[in-house]
Amino acid sequence: MKLKYQMWLLFSLLFVVMGVALYYFIVAAYEERVIEGHENITISQGASIVERLQGVYPKFPERTAGYLSTYSNRLDVRLLLIDVQGQVRYDSYEQLAAGTIIDIPILRAENPLPRTTFKETSNYGYVQHTLLYLEENQPVGGYLLMIEDVNILYEDIRSFQSWMIFVIGTAIIIFFILSFGIASLFSRPISKMITEMNKISRHNRSFKFRHHRKDEIKDLSVAIEGMVQQLNQYEQRQRQFLSASSHELKTPLATMQLISENLASVRESPEDHEEFVADLMLQIDKMKQMVNQLLDMNRAWDRSLRKEPLEASEIKKHIHKHFQHVCESKKIKLDFILEDVLIHVDLASFFQVVDNIISNAIRYSPSNTTITVTLTKAEKDKVELFICDEGIGISKEDLIYVFEPFYRTMDASEWSQEGSGLGLALVKQIIEQHGGTITAQSTKGKGTCFQITLCNKIVT
Ligand SMILES: Nc1ncnc2c1ncn2[C@@H]1O[C@H](COP(=O)(O)OP(=O)(O)OP(=O)(O)O)[C@@H](O)[C@H]1O
Ligand SMILES: [Mg+2]
Repeated sequence: MKLKYQMWLLFSLLFVVMGVALYYFIVAAYEERVIEGHENITISQGASIVERLQGVYPKFPERTAGYLSTYSNRLDVRLLLIDVQGQVRYDSYEQLAAGTIIDIPILRAENPLPRTTFKETSNYGYVQHTLLYLEENQPVGGYLLMIEDVNILYEDIRSFQSWMIFVIGTAIIIFFILSFGIASLFSRPISKMITEMNKISRHNRSFKFRHHRKDEIKDLSVAIEGMVQQLNQYEQRQRQFLSASSHELKTPLATMQLISENLASVRESPEDHEEFVADLMLQIDKMKQMVNQLLDMNRAWDRSLRKEPLEASEIKKHIHKHFQHVCESKKIKLDFILEDVLIHVDLASFFQVVDNIISNAIRYSPSNTTITVTLTKAEKDKVELFICDEGIGISKEDLIYVFEPFYRTMDASEWSQEGSGLGLALVKQIIEQHGGTITAQSTKGKGTCFQITLCNKIVT
């Protein structure tokens, strides 16, 4: 079911429940007020009749009967005088003979006097019984029973009920219509967003959603816009990567083709032949290395990280084990400033990062220079790893591109034939997968410093 209809249904249901509750509450309060008001009137009328009967009943039977019939006519109430045994002494309607024993619940009730009951009878409809005590007429005593037709009262209550049903019913109908409008208003931006999202295709990767809102709808549209932009960037990068990788693979292939085509022509000269074969092997190695790096990047992308604790000393041990010889032969010194911190990384990926940066530092540094590896604690569960060299450095213009796949600076290409420009792209990918960042600072001719920041918080 559409969100609009769900909201509409919910609003309407809520209002119906509220309407019904309101109806019962108001009607009950009204009924109580009307009945209580009428009870008070009757009791005060009864009290004035009782006052009148003082000194008359039972001494003067005729005057008593006269008073009763006068009040009965004036108030349109049937008045009965009943003695303590429940025998009728006087009946203003003169229907019950003196001495008749009447038995109605109000006489048997134990509530204090005066007391009133309302009941619905089959013959007369709603009847009110009010009983007052004739205490002033001791020792005879007895009760004044007032019997009144209160159908009008209940008609009044019923007409109030009908009026309330009309008012609340109309309000519910109006709210039904209004809530449909409200639900449409709330769900319209979502429908619009869906329409805009449905327009996104391979050829049209844009999301335009105009709005004047400052709520979650705005946040959602901004998030979608961001996502679409990211997707575009991602696709663009993927295309660039594809065209760059095919181009980079084509270059050694073309060289290899050229060498193979000319191999027959140098068959007579063993020296030239040997040189051609060596060139061929070099291109094959280059291609092999490039393909391996591409595969590494792809694997790193797919692999889920398994973070493990790693001591700072292990980093030192690893670098010594893998790079000490080459450093010695190039007369490059390795220096370590390691704080005693435990880092949490995926070991294989992390060492790939270290290997790439260190091998760059060695590759792009002249002899008699130093490579310094520093590991420090930074603020808020962060650790920083710096790998700095005193090599050829990178110009400011080149520095922003060194993490792009296949990017090699002119200086680097002149300095060393080796390398395909994929190492730092892989490094960046791995660090980002770890939720960290990598930056580079460099001064041309003086050296380069790579700074890796990793969040060391252990998520349990
Ligand atoms: N320590 C460094 N000193 C000077 N330039 C560097 C350094 N590290 C990287 N660069 C520059 O950044 C470029 C990209 O480095 P990257 O490691 O991605 O590629 P590469 O070393 O050329 O080849 P690969 O790592 O794929 O074998 C290098 O070609 C070089 O121009
Ligand atoms: Mg490299």
